[in-house]
Amino acid sequence: MSGGCPFDPSRRGFLGASAGLIAAAGALRPAAATEQAPSGLEPFYGRHQGGITTPQQAHTYVAAFDVTSTSRADFKALLARWTAAAARLCAGQPADPTDSGDTLGMPPARLTLNFGFGPTLFMKDGQDRFGLAAQRPPALAELPVFVGDKIEPARSFGDLSIQACADDPQTAFHAVRQLARLAYDVATPRWVQAGFVPQPVAQTPRNLMGFRDGTNNPCPANEAEMNEVVWVGAEGPAWMQGGTYAVFRRIRIALEHWDRTPVSFQEQTMGRTKAVGAPIGAKAEHDAENLAAVDADGNPIIAENAHVRLASAVTAGARIFRRGYSYNDGLSFTAERWPPWRQAMEYDAGLLFVAYQKDPRAQFTKIFDRMAKFDMLNQFTTHTASALFAIPPGVREGQAIGDMLI
Ligand code: HEM
Repeated sequence: MSGGCPFDPSRRGFLGASAGLIAAAGALRPAAATEQAPSGLEPFYGRHQGGITTPQQAHTYVAAFDVTSTSRADFKALLARWTAAAARLCAGQPADPTDSGDTLGMPPARLTLNFGFGPTLFMKDGQDRFGLAAQRPPALAELPVFVGDKIEPARSFGDLSIQACADDPQTAFHAVRQLARLAYDVATPRWVQAGFVPQPVAQTPRNLMGFRDGTNNPCPANEAEMNEVVWVGAEGPAWMQGGTYAVFRRIRIALEHWDRTPVSFQEQTMGRTKAVGAPIGAKAEHDAENLAAVDADGNPIIAENAHVRLASAVTAGARIFRRGYSYNDGLSFTAERWPPWRQAMEYDAGLLFVAYQKDPRAQFTKIFDRMAKFDMLNQFTTHTASALFAIPPGVREGQAIGDMLI
């Protein structure tokens, strides 16, 4: 595999927030958001929902909801309320007249919002609450339980998802908080997860393990590649065409263990160098991975169980578009899985892995099934939460998200 998607700093949208300030002052009409996005403002309306191929913002706030009402009309009305409020929020305006006001006067910080539908929306405990069971796409099959999974149900699954991304953490939280208020009596939050990546700099962001993460990713600017990997096409139901499926995995990383591991072993584990991010045996970050190369003794230069070997399209036979965030949720009591098996308060921090694809069965699951069994990285990682959502296509003004489904 070679190439990936060379990092383009202009895609990180750090050319100033002046347009955002104008929007916050109310000078920008929502309709302008359908046009080309000036810095600080990302369009809400469009063929696809935002925050998927949008140049990655520095912060995310993800929330999953359980629908508590059993009324189809309530659910439909909620989607209409959410869509209208989301369009205003992304344009830098209050969600509605009763907005909490905690971002008043702040630039929109490239806020994007996208909405998703979980498998349980279509069938939960044998109940088809909203008469949607027949429209459930086969690709929205529950993810299997993978080797090593330690999934906490209270942090996983959900009927609906909202992902806010913004260059400011309060802006992302604010948006989800307003939308949760608008769901009162219809849907209730089930889990939330905040995440971050380093502030815009002219390089691929580093995760908490210190490695560049996102090097070998399909390129959002390459439409053909996005259609091949991410966007549902004619193979999917009409209501999903132009949409995608999001897999969320909350992956705790044993940072205490990692930080005491020599860099040479870290690099073997990953299959890339730490400082540069080059494939082992190559020089530059975007050099091709030579998976066939062997040393003088005939051993592969990139180890058989290195993360990038198992993850590579050549080995796995599938690709995904990753757009993950680091998370840092303080400490929790942990029994170490490595000598001398200390029991102590340790970081509950790691990766909020987010992957988009047109069919998780043939993409995430296909790649991760093997990785879960063999990846060297597994000795440092534990998947503690999991969720899958169908992310329908974007909308035009006047339409509501999921209109074509319900
Ligand atoms: C804490 C967990 C993880 C960490 C820290 C991590 C980190 C990395 C790093 C540093 C790279 C190399 C740079 C790059 O191309 O982005 C990489 C590549 C990759 N990772 Fe992960 N990863 C994790 C979990 C996963 C999982 C669960 C999957 C699921 C399928 C995955 C799929 C991939 C893929 C497809 C690549 C590109 C491989 C290639 O073609 O070179 N990763 N990851």
